[in-house]
Amino acid sequence: MSSAQGLQAANDRQSPNDLESWWLPFTANRSFKQRPRMITRAKGMYYYTPEGRAVLDGSAGLWCCNAGHNRDEIVSAIQTAAAELDFAPAFQYGHPKPFALASRLASLAPGDLDHVFFCNSGSEAADTALKIAIAYWNVSGQGQRQRLIGRERGYHGVGFGGISVGGIVNNRKFFGSLLAGVDHLPHTYNRAEQAFSRGEPEWGAHLADDLERIVTLHDASTIAAVVVEPMAGSTGVLPPPKGYLQRLRQICDRHGILLIFDEVITGFGRLGFAFAAERYGVIPDMITFAKGVNSGTVPMGGVIVRKGIHDAFMKGPDHVIELFHGYTYSAHPLACAAALATQDIYREEKLFERARDLEETWADAMFSLKSLPNVVDIRTLGLVGAIDLASKPDAFGARAYEAMERGFHDIGIMMRVTGDTIALSPPLVISHDEIGELVDKMTRVIKAVA
Ligand SMILES: Cc1ncc(COP(=O)(O)O)c(C=O)c1O
Repeated sequence: MSSAQGLQAANDRQSPNDLESWWLPFTANRSFKQRPRMITRAKGMYYYTPEGRAVLDGSAGLWCCNAGHNRDEIVSAIQTAAAELDFAPAFQYGHPKPFALASRLASLAPGDLDHVFFCNSGSEAADTALKIAIAYWNVSGQGQRQRLIGRERGYHGVGFGGISVGGIVNNRKFFGSLLAGVDHLPHTYNRAEQAFSRGEPEWGAHLADDLERIVTLHDASTIAAVVVEPMAGSTGVLPPPKGYLQRLRQICDRHGILLIFDEVITGFGRLGFAFAAERYGVIPDMITFAKGVNSGTVPMGGVIVRKGIHDAFMKGPDHVIELFHGYTYSAHPLACAAALATQDIYREEKLFERARDLEETWADAMFSLKSLPNVVDIRTLGLVGAIDLASKPDAFGARAYEAMERGFHDIGIMMRVTGDTIALSPPLVISHDEIGELVDKMTRVIKAVA
């Protein structure tokens, strides 16, 4: 190839016009490519299309941009970090930022959750936590504790560990036999008992007792850990029934089973606290996080572990690696810089408290949609809302999909849909006026798909 041809090829590669090559994740690709929902810019509460049309961000991107978009402080922290230290290996070497960040996150986490393992996504965080759980029992002389317990409708990302303990059928059924030795608790949703409950539903704490059944079946001595999302997010927003998480903790304690909270969505203010663990007064043995840690700006995830778990590994000869696990990009300098700047914003602007203060206003706003056509349930918790729409006959998911399309193209709002549920989780900086705008736009969307 001549250099002129090479340049042409390079230019072609940069051309935004060819939509064919990118296979989009978790996307109806053929439908998307017929009418792309394209975004080129973001600021504050809004995304902007290539034509400059503003789209209100009703979903904090993908539940991540809690501080609002393109915050100057975060942008400049990333720019400075990139110019200073592009990459640093985290295997056998260190750089200052992850130490500072880990201390910061440990101080946000409750109890003795005080050591942080970094990775690059929520999926990696889930798999890391499961591996630490099994390895912990190995190094503690109880290597027979290998079973993992997840929950129906749970979402823990897309790694083999995460889909094995997860309970969303389409994320599992195409991918073979998954991990062995996994059981699932029942999910906590029952429309007949819970429809239109604000916050934590009254009904359902007893569903945690199913863990006793699983213990009876396998014996506690074979069970390593239970993993749940404090509020199931991706399946369509299922707030925990009152008392459920506390009951799960009690049963785990009774049988010496580790409890992992997957806080990839609930972490960093979404429920009005640094972590849902704090909201519910329940201290899990590990907390996974990602997304909000740096407001979605650079891929990052991690696991916060209790002191006893970390310390169990810290033995043997000094020169020997204690945990054979990690990722090339663990604690990447750009991700850490972004996270430190984000955590500053959360603290200075008191965004977690802000979400807590807005919770009732937000719930009122969501419940004002109750009488619109096809609305069969609404659930709210913290700054999260879900609206279930009646499915079209023989076309499960079609109504909410159309809502997403109409919302983006015609009405100017971004939302997240799963099945016929619309999930809303705006950046925590949303103003009262913007909540009004969101409700107004959602009203138009729901009417448009009636
Ligand atoms: C609870 C939970 N865990 C894990 C994940 C996976 O995160 P990621 O997509 O960053 O791998 C998600 C993503 O939505 C999540 O909600």
